[in-house]
Amino acid sequence: MAVLVTGGAGYIGSHTVAALLERGEDIVVLDNLQQGHKEALLGGKLYVGDLRDAEVLDRVFTENEIDAIIHFAANSLVGESMKLPGKYYHNNVYGTLCLLEKMNEYNVKKIVFSSTAATYGEPEQVPIDEYDRTLPTNAYGETKLAMEKMMQWFDTAHEIKSISLRYFNAAGAHDSGKIGEDHRPETHLVPIVLEAALGKRPHISVFGDDYDTPDGTCIRDYIHVSDLADAHVLAVDRLRTGADSSVYNLGNGQGFSVKEVIEIARTVTGKEIPALIEPRRAGDPAVLVASSERARSELGWAPSRSELKHIITSAWNWHASRPNGYEG
Ligand code: UFG
Repeated sequence: MAVLVTGGAGYIGSHTVAALLERGEDIVVLDNLQQGHKEALLGGKLYVGDLRDAEVLDRVFTENEIDAIIHFAANSLVGESMKLPGKYYHNNVYGTLCLLEKMNEYNVKKIVFSSTAATYGEPEQVPIDEYDRTLPTNAYGETKLAMEKMMQWFDTAHEIKSISLRYFNAAGAHDSGKIGEDHRPETHLVPIVLEAALGKRPHISVFGDDYDTPDGTCIRDYIHVSDLADAHVLAVDRLRTGADSSVYNLGNGQGFSVKEVIEIARTVTGKEIPALIEPRRAGDPAVLVASSERARSELGWAPSRSELKHIITSAWNWHASRPNGYEG
């Protein structure tokens, strides 16, 4: 029996494939390689194709014995989603519908889903727990919430069990140094700070220093990508034991400001990293920190690499050795 990983050539997908390989799972990857990188796959059988292509899904399900799916394939840029919501509804929501219909047709009953803290929107309280209000402030988060809800209805009607994992801020790279973060365009804080350390950017722009936080910059909960990967493996295990559908936050439970991240990056890299204060970025909540108690107690998840200095050191190993990412 194999695990199908959609979007397995992407950042979090490829680290999850690595974690599955480490424990000897059979892996099938479906990725359209629009954002993913073939070189990010450390193993598994790759189908290059799109979720919305019924023929490729038929081939995946007839040529392999799939018992569980981990579903990453999606567009995930908040800013782009505000300009092109149709693209996000089509790829994310319709793509997931196509996948769920095929799961039903081929009698595959377990799916672990890559969700996001963006489903909460502006939090009512921090740390955020899974029972808190979900009111996305961007189209990306709205599509992810719609995908979560679609899965719940497919459970009610067809007993397809799902675990949705709502990540906070994924960062870092694999301990082996073989895979890491390579988004084009890059919008995330940690890789951008490290690109400034490498001299690939003249400076890091700090988006706002007038938030209601101790140093005025936004606070986020950074979690190592390999700790996230482990949670997906544990979620597959949980579904294999016959568990019911559920939702879990994945974060470290500790917040760091943009200025603190830059300071730690200066220590780790030994570089000056010039920073310029710029206006706020639209839609950024001041503070996002997770309560991941539920994942810890029910999944047995114990993040072990998510001390911020370790996250940034692992990311620096990757960026410094591959300054052009997978093209280098
Ligand atoms: N930031 C900067 N300068 C930059 C980039 C980011 O100051 O050049 C700041 C942002 O304003 C924010 C923090 O750094 O305060 C983190 O920004 P990221 O873009 O790295 O991450 P976000 O918190 O915006 O996004 C993350 C996930 C998204 C998810 C979102 C939920 O990456 O997928 O959380 O709100 F949708």
